[in-house]
Amino acid sequence: MDYSIKDVILLLHPVLAVIVVFPLIGIVVNRALQVRQRRQQTVGEGKSKISPVVGQEHVQLGRWLSGSVVGVNLVALANEIFGNIVDHQVWKKAPFQVVLIGLMFAATIVTFALLYRVQDRRWRGIFATLSGMGLVILGYQHGVYRNTDHWYMSHYFYGTTASLLMIFSLAILRDIYQDRTNRWRNVHITLNSFAVILFLGQGITGTQALLEIPLAWQEPYLNELSKQKCNIQPCTIQAAPSLPAKH
Ligand code: HEM
Ligand code: HEM
Repeated sequence: MDYSIKDVILLLHPVLAVIVVFPLIGIVVNRALQVRQRRQQTVGEGKSKISPVVGQEHVQLGRWLSGSVVGVNLVALANEIFGNIVDHQVWKKAPFQVVLIGLMFAATIVTFALLYRVQDRRWRGIFATLSGMGLVILGYQHGVYRNTDHWYMSHYFYGTTASLLMIFSLAILRDIYQDRTNRWRNVHITLNSFAVILFLGQGITGTQALLEIPLAWQEPYLNELSKQKCNIQPCTIQAAPSLPAKH
């Protein structure tokens, strides 16, 4: 197998998404439906056969889900941003920019971790805003494939929006319980039903991305194919002298 370290690092993000994030989505959505059904039965019939534990399970696993979604998002961004820094040797031209990007990653992770700890409403708002801003600013660095022309089918835009919705869920967690009018509960249901659709989109656009990204050794050949427009005219592709020939 001709896998280089670059290919292995690239696979880290999809592997974590498939093994950790998506199973969690399954359980969290299942518990969400049970919480809702239980609440409706309790209001309507005064009792329900569904265990009250489903609420706790939804929230506990929901907290893990938020962390894992933001985590895989940061892994993907780190791969693209630091990959670009290595490819273009950015630290030689703009070392300060590299340090700033490193600090931005650190600030995003720290403010996101603090969001789990703080109770006060104001601090929840502040840390949710800061960690969300961190994600968005990192997403605008060189190397990140945003596919802005096709934003309606963009893995980046779906992923960032879903991550922001997970951060928001953490921020309003207490308000869902405290609010007697169910306003925050309904806001939560509406936004996170949308998040589920975005997650489905991530499954589709992510596998699509895997299909489109070549292995590291294939990349120079593919670049040559598009440079010579091999899709519309005959062309010859040869192994570059610096590349070991593949058979
Ligand atoms: C896929 C994402 C999610 C979906 C579709 C979802 C949906 C729901 C639904 C339908 C309910 C029941 C509302 C009702 O009582 O009618 C609920 C409750 C709740 N959710 Fe989520 N949710 C998601 C993720 C999260 C996350 C990530 C968190 C926190 C970090 C969270 C925190 C809560 C809380 C605190 C409640 C109230 C539970 C209770 O009343 O016992 N949810 N959610
Ligand atoms: C919650 C789920 C996910 C989130 C939040 C997420 C988020 C992201 C983000 C923000 C990027 C960087 C921008 C871009 O290149 O589009 C990215 C890249 C990528 N994602 Fe995902 N993603 C998720 C799930 C998946 C899944 C399920 C797969 C595949 C099975 C996948 C495969 C990829 C690939 C191949 C890349 C390109 C990586 C690179 O060029 O370095 N993602 N993802």
